[in-house]
Amino acid sequence: MSAERYAKLSGLGSALPERVVPNSWFEGRIETSDEWIRERTGIRSRRFAGPSESTASLAADAARAAMRTAAAQPSAIDLLIVATCTPERFIPSTASFVQARLELSCPSFDLNAACAGFVYGLSVGAAQIRAGAADRVLVVGAEVLSRVLDMSDRTTCVLFGDGAGAALLEPSEEPGIIDSLLALDGRQAELLTVPAGGSAEPVTHEGIEHRRNYLRMLDGQSVFRQAVVAMADAATAVLQKAGIGPADLRAVIGHQANARILTALGKRLGLEPGQVVIDIAEVGNTSAASIPIAMDRAWRAGRLSPNDLVLTVAFGAGLSWGANLIRWTAPPPGTPGV
Ligand code: UT7
Repeated sequence: MSAERYAKLSGLGSALPERVVPNSWFEGRIETSDEWIRERTGIRSRRFAGPSESTASLAADAARAAMRTAAAQPSAIDLLIVATCTPERFIPSTASFVQARLELSCPSFDLNAACAGFVYGLSVGAAQIRAGAADRVLVVGAEVLSRVLDMSDRTTCVLFGDGAGAALLEPSEEPGIIDSLLALDGRQAELLTVPAGGSAEPVTHEGIEHRRNYLRMLDGQSVFRQAVVAMADAATAVLQKAGIGPADLRAVIGHQANARILTALGKRLGLEPGQVVIDIAEVGNTSAASIPIAMDRAWRAGRLSPNDLVLTVAFGAGLSWGANLIRWTAPPPGTPGV
């Protein structure tokens, strides 16, 4: 009998725009303060893309870094998945531009599950490998949210940032991506949305006057509460199925929407503070990019070692959420390419 086929992580990378935007940038533009933003969210600064940067350019930079850490050539990539809710254009997919930038020749597509996009992408990529449909899959989370932020809306514009993170998956005999849980409640789609710019409501002069082409969050507190409960439930379900206790986890890498959400999640799961990765201070909420960016930075900082158990868990617009349980297999930082 042939050995079981699983997927494992073999490379990681991330990319942030050059421009740093501190909280003080918003003071004077809108009624807010550095103190309010820091205390309510944990954010001190974020990066905003410049005119020459875009979702595809950041995605390609992150993917290149991930390929470098795994010494993977473009010809070795069988599938590219780009998770984003701020695509390069309406048509064609962001993945088309990323594929060209990376000089890949593999099938490539976008996946939109908002802030849960990377968790969804990792699950889909791992399933493709398990099914034998692909050997090496690049999963990228990339966003340029600054282009859909209403800079006069203090309830949203201070929260988000731009960036990209990428993971390379390859086959293995032992489970690396052990299991995933994906979920969505479309009845709450209006809670967090960009109303205009799609087929239901094309952009018009009137729509622009009413700022309907920008991101809106109807009830931040409700999103906050639901995020904590849904992420804790998803994490618990994945852990129970695998017969693993929260104490066995080296790290929980949650979607970086708000440091207070992550602290509350850790408490609900009974985790020690050191198990919860909080890396929002200089990055902000980068939606689908937040988990791979935080994961890459934690790994390069030496917080994740081979064989560690790592849980990623996300929640965002849709409302969508999900989790991946991972046995860490990326090479330790310091090895060539990393
Ligand atoms: O990534 C997708 C998922 N998104 C999330 O998970 C976001 C979830 N929500 C949150 O993180 C939090 O709800 C926020 C950070 C958005 C807001 O924090 P909060 O502690 O829930 O504040 P709040 O909405 O209860 O507002 C408290 C006060 C209000 O003033 P009043 O009514 O008490 O006078 C707001 O108007 O803070 C006011 N406020 C601000 N003040 C200064 C709201 N935004 C700001 C601001 N600066 N930027």
